[in-house]
Amino acid sequence: MSRRERLGLALLHRFDPERAHGLSLLALRLGLVPLPDFASSPRLATTLAGMVLLNPIGLAAGYDKNAQAIAPLSRAGFGFLEVGAATPLPQPGNDRPRLFRLTEDRAAINRFGFNNHGMQAIGSRLAARKPGPVPVPVGLNLGANKTSDNRAADFAAVLAHCGPHVDFATVNVSSPNTEGLRNLQGRALLAGLLQQVMEARLGLARPIPVFLKIAPDLSPGELEDIVEVALAARVSGIIATNTTLSREGLKSANSGQTGGLSGSPLFEKSTRVLARLSQLTHGTLPLIGVGGVASAEDAYQKIRAGASAVQLYTAMVYQGLSLVPAIARGLDALLARDGYANVALAVGTGRSAWL
Ligand SMILES: Cc1cc2nc3c(=O)[nH]c(=O)nc-3n(C[C@H](O)[C@H](O)[C@H](O)COP(=O)(O)O)c2cc1C
Repeated sequence: MSRRERLGLALLHRFDPERAHGLSLLALRLGLVPLPDFASSPRLATTLAGMVLLNPIGLAAGYDKNAQAIAPLSRAGFGFLEVGAATPLPQPGNDRPRLFRLTEDRAAINRFGFNNHGMQAIGSRLAARKPGPVPVPVGLNLGANKTSDNRAADFAAVLAHCGPHVDFATVNVSSPNTEGLRNLQGRALLAGLLQQVMEARLGLARPIPVFLKIAPDLSPGELEDIVEVALAARVSGIIATNTTLSREGLKSANSGQTGGLSGSPLFEKSTRVLARLSQLTHGTLPLIGVGGVASAEDAYQKIRAGASAVQLYTAMVYQGLSLVPAIARGLDALLARDGYANVALAVGTGRSAWL
C-alpha cells in the first residue's frame, strides 16, 4: 500500500462508515484515487459461465449499489464487477446508523436493507456505460422491494429491465436485512422464484448468465435442497456466500449490532459452504467464492475449495483498492509455485480439506 493510500484510508476511517463509503465512491468518480496497474497473466485469465475474465478477482455486490462508479472500478484491477442490489422501486433502506466497522476483527456489520435508486435510474446508468480499455464483465445484483407483495416478480422485473445492459445477474435471496427475504431460499419458494427469473432471462435478446447467491447460515439439508432446485432451474452458477448472522469469536465493540457480518470472521464459514456446494454439484456448476477474502492466500484457498472465481468487499475497507492487484499478482505466484498453468486447473483441488 502506498503512503498516499494509507493516509487516504486513515482519513476515511475518521468518518462514520457510511459517510466514508460515500466519500470513497466520490473520490473514485472524481479520479482522486490512484488506480493500480491491471494485473493479468495467462495463468489468471479464465472463464466463468462463458464470460471471459482477465483475472478471477471480482468486486462483491453492495459497494457500488447504484452503479455510479463502474468506469473507475473497471480500471481498478478487478476481473469482474457486481453492482447493486437494485430493486424495482427506489427505496431508502433502514434507519441510520446501519453500517459498522469491527476494526479489531477486520470485519463489518451492515443492515442497509437494499437502499438503492431503483431499476429505472440504475438501468439508465448501466445502459450508458462505455466499454473500458480492458474488458471487465459487469453484473447486477437483483433485489426485491421491502413492501412488495410479490417479491419473486420483483427479481424477474429487475432482470427484464436491466438485463440488456449487463453481462450477468445475481438472484440475491440471502440478504439478512430485508425481513423474510431469506425464506425465499426454501425449496418451494425458490423453485417458483427461479422459474420466473429464468423465464425473464429467456425473454432477453441476449440471455445472460444468472447466478444464485446464498447465505452461509444454512443447514446441510437446506443446502442440498438449494442445489437440487438450482440445478433443476439451470442457473449458471452459485455465489457463496452473503453475510452471516453468526457472531462467533468477535472482539470488537460493535459485534452486538444487528445485521449481516462480513470480512475475515466469515472466511471459514463461507469457504465450508463453498466446498460443500462443489461436492454436491460434483464440480460441474461454476461457483463464486465470497466471504472474508483479504489476501492472495485466501483467494487461492477459495479456488482450491471449489470456486472458479472469488469476490471481495470488506477487505478493501481495511486494505484499500491496491489490495486487488496485489491479490491477483500473489495468486499468480501461488499458482506458479504449485505448478498450475492456469487458475482453472486449481479449482476444487483442495476441497476435501474443507469438508
Ligand atoms: C455494506 C455492505 C453492503 C452489501 N450489500 C449487498 C447487496 O446489496 N447484495 C448482496 O448480494 N450482497 C451484499 N453485501 C454482501 C457482499 O456482497 C459479500 O457477500 C459479503 O460482504 C462477504 O464478502 P466480504 O467478506 O469480502 O465483504 C454487502 C456487504 C456489505 C459489507
